[in-house]
Amino acid sequence: MALRTLGTAPWKAASLPRPRSGDGPGDHDPAAVSRALFELGSAACRRDPHPVLNALREAGPVLRTREGLLVATSHAVVSRLLADPSWAMIDAGWRDGVTPGWQDNGALRIIHGSLLGLDGPDHARHRRLTIGALTRAAVERLRPRLAGIVDRLLDEFVDALRAAPNSADPNPAGVGAAADFHRLVAARLPALALCALFGLPESDHGFLAACARELAYAHEFGPSRAQLRAAAEQADVLTRYLRTVQAAPDGLLAELRRQAPDHLDDIVGLVGGTVVVAGWETTTFSLGDVVSLLARFPDQAERVRQDPYLVRSAVEEMLRFEPPVLAVMRRATAAGELGGEEVAVGQPALLLIGAAHRDPAAFPEPEYFDVSRFEAGRAEVGRAGVGHAGVGHAELGRAGAEGAPPPRALTFGRGAHLCVGMHLNRLEVELVLAGLLERLPVWSAEGVYAPGRILRSFSSLTLRC
Ligand code: HEM
Repeated sequence: MALRTLGTAPWKAASLPRPRSGDGPGDHDPAAVSRALFELGSAACRRDPHPVLNALREAGPVLRTREGLLVATSHAVVSRLLADPSWAMIDAGWRDGVTPGWQDNGALRIIHGSLLGLDGPDHARHRRLTIGALTRAAVERLRPRLAGIVDRLLDEFVDALRAAPNSADPNPAGVGAAADFHRLVAARLPALALCALFGLPESDHGFLAACARELAYAHEFGPSRAQLRAAAEQADVLTRYLRTVQAAPDGLLAELRRQAPDHLDDIVGLVGGTVVVAGWETTTFSLGDVVSLLARFPDQAERVRQDPYLVRSAVEEMLRFEPPVLAVMRRATAAGELGGEEVAVGQPALLLIGAAHRDPAAFPEPEYFDVSRFEAGRAEVGRAGVGHAGVGHAELGRAGAEGAPPPRALTFGRGAHLCVGMHLNRLEVELVLAGLLERLPVWSAEGVYAPGRILRSFSSLTLRC
């Protein structure tokens, strides 16, 4: 295995998996795979998980940990399993085994009663309730309102830069000043966007963002007891709030209450479990990443500044290069074999989206951040992706050799559980990217990363210009 020396993470090569020389596929050291997954929670990996993810992928497309978990690493396998209905979501039965008494935890109850914990007809019924409000066309209708929110937040951010204590006085351009982009923009925009979508009072966005942060940890890979306790407390707060809040009559919450008056619990699960857990921290990270990536690659920032037509492709590339969700879990519903590993019914698997996105077999020069990678013209735009419940997914991607289908980023998953919020997220990232380039000439950024193995998030992100 050619271990790469990428990034700045001081990861320990000795702790990473290596195939035994001369042995065939599927033959690797399970203890090293376990250690590498553990390593993903380290401070170095939170900053840059890719050396470890790359090492895992280079050790084989399908690995097994010492504890018996299967780990899919290549783009081909991760993509295939995401689309394969015989690999189901982690269900209540599996949870019984790993977190006894989980039913007493409101956060885990919400997750298992939501889209993220369901399959089959129950999943389809829940999904139908939200999907209409989040189609590309529905999200486009929100554009003017979201553009107004983004303008307001970015203007406030630039004002904060100008007012920063280390600014020269007067300093109309805010040159040399620094402010926390995470706190002032990235953590607020998803909350404000979801308040707009659901018809919730804007003034509640701070409270909702705090709930979302704690709840998201319940969906982490191996959450601590303290995290589960904090998530449960927030789940109770959120449940009470959603039952009683006065929502705007034209918002999604009022629509859900009209559509399913006898299923208030479903609604709480939908809004609380899926949208809050799935849509909040993920989007917050992706917005912070706009700042972080354009600071790391100023030449690429300049390309987008010169050619605003590249904005959509740049958004896709950011989400490929640093996906906010590094992995998702599945369990097998049929016995079989995967990459030389035996699969029994109930076998859990971790699908490493983060490793798949740097797979050279899927993306040429995957370590190269290229804002034109998904550019229309070299790409097939509008190619039918995995439509689900009436939603078409237009895909951007550079066409492969001799007209082969373009590689597909798996940022938002694939198949029956394809993210319902992807159009909303893309629009938010696009508006922030364009708005920042318009307002600021150049900047540097320093992020502090929050704990987490598979969900990436900043706890602060200082932008200095
Ligand atoms: C950068 C932002 C986002 C990322 C990276 C992301 C990623 C994902 C991924 C990978 C999945 C599939 C999970 C699986 O297969 O196990 C998913 C599902 C989901 N996402 Fe997102 N998401 C984002 C934003 C959003 C937003 C803004 C919303 C809500 C408005 C949202 C709502 C959902 C829901 C409801 C599901 C479950 C869909 C289902 O199971 O049918 N997500 N997301």
